[in-house]
Amino acid sequence: MPVLKGKELRVVGFLCNWCSYGGADTAGVGRFSQPTDLRIIRVPCSGRVDPMFVVKALLGGADGVLVSGCHPRDCHYSQGNFYARRRLETLKTFLPALGIDPDRFQYTWVSASEGQRWKNVVSTFVEKVHQLGHAPRIEEAAPYLPLAEKGDTLPAPLRPLAWPAAGTLTASLEQLREKIRAALPELDCVIGWQQGFDALHATPLFMRKPEDVDKLTWGPLNVHNLATYLPQFKNRKVGVVVKGCDSRSVIELLQEKLVEPDNVRVFGMACEGVVDVERVRKAMEPAEGAACTDVAPAAVAVEGDGLAFEGDTPVRLKLADVVAEKCRTCDTPVPLLGDVVEGNASAPAGPGPDAPPSLEALDAMTPEQRRGFWRAQMDRCLRCYACRNACPMCVCRDHCIAESRDPHWTTQEGNVREKLQFQVIHALHLAGRCTECGECQRACPVNIPVLALKQWMNRSVLTLFDYRAGVDVNAVPPLLAFAVEEKNIKEHGL
Ligand code: FES
Repeated sequence: MPVLKGKELRVVGFLCNWCSYGGADTAGVGRFSQPTDLRIIRVPCSGRVDPMFVVKALLGGADGVLVSGCHPRDCHYSQGNFYARRRLETLKTFLPALGIDPDRFQYTWVSASEGQRWKNVVSTFVEKVHQLGHAPRIEEAAPYLPLAEKGDTLPAPLRPLAWPAAGTLTASLEQLREKIRAALPELDCVIGWQQGFDALHATPLFMRKPEDVDKLTWGPLNVHNLATYLPQFKNRKVGVVVKGCDSRSVIELLQEKLVEPDNVRVFGMACEGVVDVERVRKAMEPAEGAACTDVAPAAVAVEGDGLAFEGDTPVRLKLADVVAEKCRTCDTPVPLLGDVVEGNASAPAGPGPDAPPSLEALDAMTPEQRRGFWRAQMDRCLRCYACRNACPMCVCRDHCIAESRDPHWTTQEGNVREKLQFQVIHALHLAGRCTECGECQRACPVNIPVLALKQWMNRSVLTLFDYRAGVDVNAVPPLLAFAVEEKNIKEHGL
């Protein structure tokens, strides 16, 4: 019989086999009365609880989730609960980004002898979940579309720019070419950019012979983060041309030993910002309602602070008006590592007219609006995985959990819950690893602001662990480490 008044709710409990499961057993043997809302799943250690378990339960209709393991220092596997503590605390701070009340998730420690404590823990938590009531389902939220209300825009207050004072040095493409030609005999390949299928698009260039280097281009159309290709060249000597933001991805790959320092040669170029191709297309549309594909300039030239597009109707655009949103808040215009750093940078200025949702915009929403926001965004998701494929830190894409049948975490159904779950998996896998290069969002064919999820996660990681990904080659990503006494993690008092 439920001890609590009212309808029984669905509360999932992940209990470590060695302590908390024993504690629950002790409570049962001691005949302590407890709420019957809890459905227990026994796991070998709290360290086995992937945050995805919790998210899947909450998105799947659980009203609350409780994780309980051995007390710190008592883990049967020595350190499992220390790692779990970091992951679960990070998850707790991430749940509000989805519009989920963080009070619906709790983690704690109960030993096998603490039957009375188990009773208190489960009673307190379930009572709190009862106060919150049934968890609202994201797929039932009223779509919230601030984009549509404001003409494809959301307010995006700018964080302070940290670029160097406006400089005038121009990146030297010729010098870069010379450096690459000189290095090429020692390398299998150097990855750079070349003109793509039209003058507006650049595309990756794989230089293997000196004559390939002639095709190399440099400028604000080089939007791709080429670090994405590096893991494919593991155990081979490879060079890569990077912008400041891309260099952080290389650092992260080196940190995680996904590429070997002796095998990678980095050619760093200071960057003045890259364009948002969608903004350029919009700015160039000759008449209202013209299809984006009508825009195909014959040539694009960089002139001073602008871009000159030659074609049937020549157009001149200011770089500041069409620059990618990430460049407005970039604080690494000059690469943080590189065998060669050419040029200097000057900052693009001023807020853009059609900024994508920023963290500030997401912060300003109520939990209900956030649920409606993601519901509306996920309705548009095609599940094409372009966001994953463009991500330089998403390195297990051949065995991606989103497509795997074993384990079968997500189905291929095109519903909001499954699509959001995939995006959450991506954000969770990037916790403490995402360098905010923005490739996921750029690659999205329907412009879903998926970067906001990673930015939220990064803010959590910064607050909890004072850590920023892709800055220090020798640093250990925070979720691959632990501290016995965590400075910024407080016990939650269950
Ligand atoms: Fe219980 Fe690791 S064995 S938390």
